[in-house]
Amino acid sequence: MATAEGEYRLYRELASWWPLISPPEEYTEEAAYLAAVLGSAAAVPVREVLDLGSGGGHVAAHLKDKFTLTLVDISADMLAVSRQLNPESAHRQGDMRTLRLNRTFDAVLVHDAIDYITTQADLRAVIETAFEHCRPGGIAVFVPDYVKDTFAELAGAGGGGTDTAGRQATFRERTWDPEPADDWVQAEYEFILRAADGTVEVIRETHRLGAFSHAVWAELLADAGFEAERDAPPEAGRAAGGGKDQPRPGHRPDNLFVGHRPRSQGVSRSATRPEA
Ligand SMILES: C[S@@+](CC[C@H](N)C(=O)[O-])C[C@H]1O[C@@H](n2cnc3c(N)ncnc32)[C@H](O)[C@@H]1O
Repeated sequence: MATAEGEYRLYRELASWWPLISPPEEYTEEAAYLAAVLGSAAAVPVREVLDLGSGGGHVAAHLKDKFTLTLVDISADMLAVSRQLNPESAHRQGDMRTLRLNRTFDAVLVHDAIDYITTQADLRAVIETAFEHCRPGGIAVFVPDYVKDTFAELAGAGGGGTDTAGRQATFRERTWDPEPADDWVQAEYEFILRAADGTVEVIRETHRLGAFSHAVWAELLADAGFEAERDAPPEAGRAAGGGKDQPRPGHRPDNLFVGHRPRSQGVSRSATRPEA
């Protein structure tokens, strides 16, 4: 199974480099937009938010003044990084496909960690996890980097800055689709890590990242029991965050899937489906 579990060094022994590779400041604009989306649940005031695959807590760092957060990640190393940045938030180790905290939240966020879900069976499982943890009337928000319908090969670079220990990190990436018929694409990363003593290490790692079609997202959200929302782009000046006709603040992510859990519905529809 292609997940970060035991597989990607970036989220294990390299986790302490995450704040240099993908600095928290880079999430400010997108987090502002997501805060408005999370707060737009029609039926409940949103206070408690579950963040599945919270990583280093870089999105969370921009949400924690607005919401009470519970941060879940499969990697203990990434949770340790997040605890340093977000000591006031609850942290739990868990797999977003199988996690059951036996409680609900006003909203569930699955940011770019959803990229590490690469099969429709696993995507179904994550959406069901979100549904199980979303209170009736609440909202679930999914933010994949890639969607099959719009995927285009890309090359990029990022990182930068220096931490208090004097370390620096940058990276290069190329993401392409080896087989358009399946539901994943491939990211080839090169991380350039400069230790405080000036020693440089270059690490290359290939990640498999999910790229599902809009149709698959719509079907799986509906199967779980969510009512899918068609998110309007900010230019359309549509209401968000409770305000009427207010454009959302910040920057809209390229891909966004929003599900509302109906007020009256009891359990996930797929939870009641007979085994195939
Ligand atoms: C790109 S990072 C997330 C970064 C995060 N958005 C932030 O603000 O720092 C992806 C994360 O997904 C986590 N992850 C991958 N598969 C997972 C799973 N099945 N359950 C929970 N977390 C998972 C990885 O451990 C990693 O921390």
